[in-house]
Formats: sequence, C-alpha cells, structure tokens
Amino acid sequence: MAAEEIRSKGRLDGKTALVTGAGSGIGKAISTVFGHEGARVMASDINEESAAAVAAQIEDAGGEARSLRTDTTSEEDVKGAIQAVVDAWGKLDIVVNNAGIGGPQYTWEQVIAVNENGVYYGCLHGLAQMIKQGEGGAIVNLSSMMGVSGTTTPVGPGGVGYAYHASKHAVIGLTRQFGLDGGPHNIRVNAICPGWIETPLLAPLKMSEELTKWMIDGAPMGRLGGADEVAKAALFLASEDSSFVTATHLVIDGGWTAR
Ligand SMILES: NC(=O)c1ccc[n+]([C@@H]2O[C@H](COP(=O)([O-])OP(=O)(O)OC[C@H]3O[C@@H](n4cnc5c(N)ncnc54)[C@H](O)[C@@H]3O)[C@@H](O)[C@H]2O)c1
Repeated sequence: MAAEEIRSKGRLDGKTALVTGAGSGIGKAISTVFGHEGARVMASDINEESAAAVAAQIEDAGGEARSLRTDTTSEEDVKGAIQAVVDAWGKLDIVVNNAGIGGPQYTWEQVIAVNENGVYYGCLHGLAQMIKQGEGGAIVNLSSMMGVSGTTTPVGPGGVGYAYHASKHAVIGLTRQFGLDGGPHNIRVNAICPGWIETPLLAPLKMSEELTKWMIDGAPMGRLGGADEVAKAALFLASEDSSFVTATHLVIDGGWTAR
C-alpha cells in the first residue's frame, strides 16, 4: 500500500465528534487525536478562546474542526452543541463527555453540576440524536480511577473531594445504563478512568511536593500519565476497533488502583 493511501485512512474517517472541555488537557489531546484520525471535530468548552485555539490547531494540521462555547452544566447548552454538530456536518457520530472539574476551590454543587449533570446531558441528548439517525454511534465519558475507588491522601479525609468521588462513580453508573439503552441501536457507551494525568487540573496538587511524590510513587509505573495516553484510549473506544465493547470502563492509571 502506498504511503499516501496509509495516511488517508484515519480510524475516524467520515465521523463527526463533539468533545466537551476540549480547550485543555485531556479534552485537547482527544480533539487533536480525533482530528488527526479524520474526524470532523466540534471542540467545545466553557472557555471559548481555548476551544477556538484547539480547533484552529486541528485545521492548521490539515484536519476539519469548529469550536463552540458550551457550559455543560446547562442542558440547553449541551443540546445546542449537539445540534451545532448536526448543523455543521449533517450528523453526530461521537460524543466525548470530557468536561470536568475538581479541587478544594469548588463546592459540592459545582462539582456535581459539571462532572455528573453535564455527562448526563451529553449521554441523554447524544443518544437521542444517534437513535434518530439510526446509524449507531459511540459515547465516551470521562470518569476517573476515583470512579472505581476511594482515595487515602496524606492530607486528611475526603480523598480528592467527596463530590469528585461521588460524581465519578456516577459517571460509571450513567455509562452502564446508557450503554444498555444504546446497545440495541449499535450505540456504544463507555467510560475512561484515568489515574493521575499531567494536565492543568493537577496544578493545585502539584503545588505540594509531598502530594506530587505521593501521586508518582503510588503508581507502580512510577510516573504521571500523559493526556495523549488517555486520548489513545478514547480513540479506541470511539472507533470500530472497540466494536463489541460497551457499557464498561477502561482504567488508565499506571497500576494505581491495583495496589
Ligand atoms: N488530569 C487528571 O489527572 C484526571 C484524572 C482522572 C480524570 N480526569 C478527568 O478528565 C477530564 C478532563 O480533565 P483535565 O485533566 O483535562 O482537566 P483540565 O482542567 O485541563 O481541562 C478541563 C476543561 O474543561 C473545561 N470546563 C470546565 N468546566 C466546564 C463546563 N461547565 N462546561 C464546559 N467545559 C468546562 C475547562 O475550561 C477545561 O478546558 C475531567 O472530567 C477530569 O475529571 C482527569
């Protein structure tokens, strides 16, 4: 096969994708990988500028992307983002419910609103759109290793926050239920559970040397993960490579939760 032919065969050729929280960290890496693999990407984020920058980067690299301001705590915004993909490219094949927050600066209500409600809206309206189209689809939700375990930190009770743990467990529950509902329509719904990944989300924890050491030493692989390492898993779950995988979750944590 000629090199040109190989290059033209992206694993998401012909697909359209909505990525929430696309302006930073894992969402940015997922958008970039999806664009590289041939998907038309709607990069959406509450931060309009960062979403626009990611879309521009994909276009500069020869891909196709647009951007949109979306606050995933608003059901209307999420519906609007799904409609924007359909308006732009005629259909919606993939939704990545990635937007998420965490840290002591946020209240219980704020964390639940983004991490749980936002994922629910994306699954609910994404699934409805895909069922209407009748051509299958894939939904990928960002949970966390804190969606499958609690955490004992060196800084006291509550792990990385009660709301964070609760919301990320909820994402697993949503993934199972929407996976059951999507199955008969060949719409697969899966979650990713990253461990400690080097993104701006970790900034408050990384201000402490003790916590940084704890994050690194707790993983048998002895390092933080990269956003691109999570993006590759999202690509697997969004593409035909995982055609019989649904209603489940994939832990990417360098071994942290196996201890
Ligand atoms: N970094 C990690 O170690 C880690 C580990 C496990 C799970 N996760 C999860 O991965 C996802 C991405 O995290 P990240 O590390 O890339 O974080 P990040 O802070 O780098 O990026 C999060 C993005 O979400 C956007 N966002 C925040 N609130 C939003 C809202 N209401 N509507 C739309 N966009 C909003 C932010 O503007 C930002 O661009 C989150 O769901 C997070 O909980 C991250």
